[in-house]
Amino acid sequence: WTRTVVAVDGPAGSGKSSVSRAAARELGFAFLDTGAAYRALAWLALERAVDLDDADAVFGLLADWDYRISTDPDDVRVWVAGTEVTQAIRETRVSSVVSSVARVPAVREALGRHFRLTLDEPGAPGVIAEGRDITTVVAPDASVRVLLTASESVRLARRAGELGSVTREELARQVTERDRRDSQVVDFMTAADGVTTLDSSELDFDQTVRALVTIVKAPR
Ligand code: C5P
Repeated sequence: WTRTVVAVDGPAGSGKSSVSRAAARELGFAFLDTGAAYRALAWLALERAVDLDDADAVFGLLADWDYRISTDPDDVRVWVAGTEVTQAIRETRVSSVVSSVARVPAVREALGRHFRLTLDEPGAPGVIAEGRDITTVVAPDASVRVLLTASESVRLARRAGELGSVTREELARQVTERDRRDSQVVDFMTAADGVTTLDSSELDFDQTVRALVTIVKAPR
């Protein structure tokens, strides 16, 4: 790598996105949300009414999807096919189908290549990339690799704080179902060899950010 690469994986609601972004800000690093790419592809599939069970058709969307994401932790924005989708990709209709595009091996390979190019881009002295398979597949050779976890009840409570419209039970069902489907594709619940586990169950947000920054700054 041409710069310090920090890989962070974890399940839905572990706080990896907001924690990684805050840590990147503090370190003066770039920030790459890899889940945004899978979400943007799912958004495009819905927009073009592509059958999500048709792996070739989903993969075909990548031909001209013109995906762009800003890696400035202070201003993360996402565009696909000429439309800004920063907010739209967070909607439940996208979350509930994103696992279907993420399970297509050719999609994972193409996005993985794209992520690796972004990690090597010149600019900030380092980059924090977060997702499900960054520590294991995208950047197993990253300078720092962290699995950010939290107990299931804590994760569900955090997610409940984020969304207003659905009931707690419905939300629990959605998050658990997405983790179950994603787990069939990549293992992001157990730390691979050499990966540091950061359990945030008993930590508040600032403490978790500080813990991640400390891990990144630790001598290696
Ligand atoms: O991290 P986030 O919840 O935004 O990720 C959205 C979805 O993208 C996940 O549920 C998963 O299906 C997929 N994903 C993935 N590999 C990654 C990041 C995200 O499969 N590295």
